[in-house]
Amino acid sequence: MTCDIACEHPSTVEGMIHVTATESDTIRAIEAEAISARFARGWHCLGLAGRFKDGTPHTIDAFGQRLVVFTGEDGAVNVLDAHCRHMGGDLSQGTVKGNTIACPFHDWRWGGDGRCKAIPYARRVPLRARTSAWPTMEQDGLLFVWNDPEGRKPPADVTIPVIEGATRDDWTDWLWTETTVHANCREVVDNVVDMAHFFYIHYSFPTYFKNIFEGHTATQIMKGKSRPDRARPAGEGGARMLGNSSVASYHGPSFMIDELTYHYDGFDMDSVLINCHYPIDENSFSLHSGIIVRRSDRLPGDAAEETARRLSGFILAGFEQDIEIWRNKTRIDNPLLCEEDGPVYQLRRWYEQFYVDVADVAPEMTGRFEYEIDTTRPVESWQRECAENIARREAEGATT
Ligand code: FES
Ligand SMILES: [Fe+2]
Repeated sequence: MTCDIACEHPSTVEGMIHVTATESDTIRAIEAEAISARFARGWHCLGLAGRFKDGTPHTIDAFGQRLVVFTGEDGAVNVLDAHCRHMGGDLSQGTVKGNTIACPFHDWRWGGDGRCKAIPYARRVPLRARTSAWPTMEQDGLLFVWNDPEGRKPPADVTIPVIEGATRDDWTDWLWTETTVHANCREVVDNVVDMAHFFYIHYSFPTYFKNIFEGHTATQIMKGKSRPDRARPAGEGGARMLGNSSVASYHGPSFMIDELTYHYDGFDMDSVLINCHYPIDENSFSLHSGIIVRRSDRLPGDAAEETARRLSGFILAGFEQDIEIWRNKTRIDNPLLCEEDGPVYQLRRWYEQFYVDVADVAPEMTGRFEYEIDTTRPVESWQRECAENIARREAEGATT
């Protein structure tokens, strides 16, 4: 892929951008390479661990293939290739027997380590009766599976941080949602740097926006105020919402933890939002959201659950807004950026580290990078737009 001016933000912009006739005569072409069928190396969350502990096998289509997730009598959650190495049966349609998954086709029994443990009708289990067992991790009530196209085990230092509130009584339990999106998962990761879409798509009002990439984390720090021209989630007792602060980090290619605080007149409400996904194939992914809310004097008992439910609905509506864009947009490798856009190219270089062999991870993919958007111009412009919306609505109200 070639990228010229679009790699860098223009150095000086005074008001409107003026271009010369020669520059404006060149039509910008959209570039998009074919999407590789290789999937990101890293921990991917499959959702709430509890749902896989019901004694039945679960079908998960991920990483371009089918997986079976099952919990044996020993309580261990296992993930195997679903397609049986005997004659190709689908283990996820089978039955959990003891600590094995029994294939529905001829009852071969597969253990969580990927080895065939028994074939009831056979004298001997063939020597090479071994299938692929995927490394798993359970943390904070969530189940993770490790994907590595090179087949390595997860390194000890590649982890997902513990989310304290997830297991504490003074926080609500997870409210978890899952939805299938028909797009490549790079689209959702791009959002990390996309400040402007929060105003136009999600009807929020960013006033501060900064990104930090380092190692396998990519962080978005955002502060926002509530839009005067939009309804917003009201606080307990109808308190006025003043704004929000969010520190959201991807830990690896697919699991974002967002520490999100809503500021109301007189109190704050703390929440942790998970925005995570796993690829189904190169053209679709399973998008999950999770939310927990801290209980407080202002949010005792059921009020916290009710708030979590309301926030979850709000987040789902946000996903729908993104999905509607993804459904109609085209893939673009060479986005044309203005100075108020975030560092899309640098983010994609960070993201690339998960798609190349470990030996090919380059310093420019993992080195520390920081970029803060100057929000002066966007804030002025959005303030004006909100005022115009309110004025128009009032004028319409006056005539009806
Ligand atoms: S295909 Fe699975 S036991 Fe035969
Ligand atoms: Fe978005």
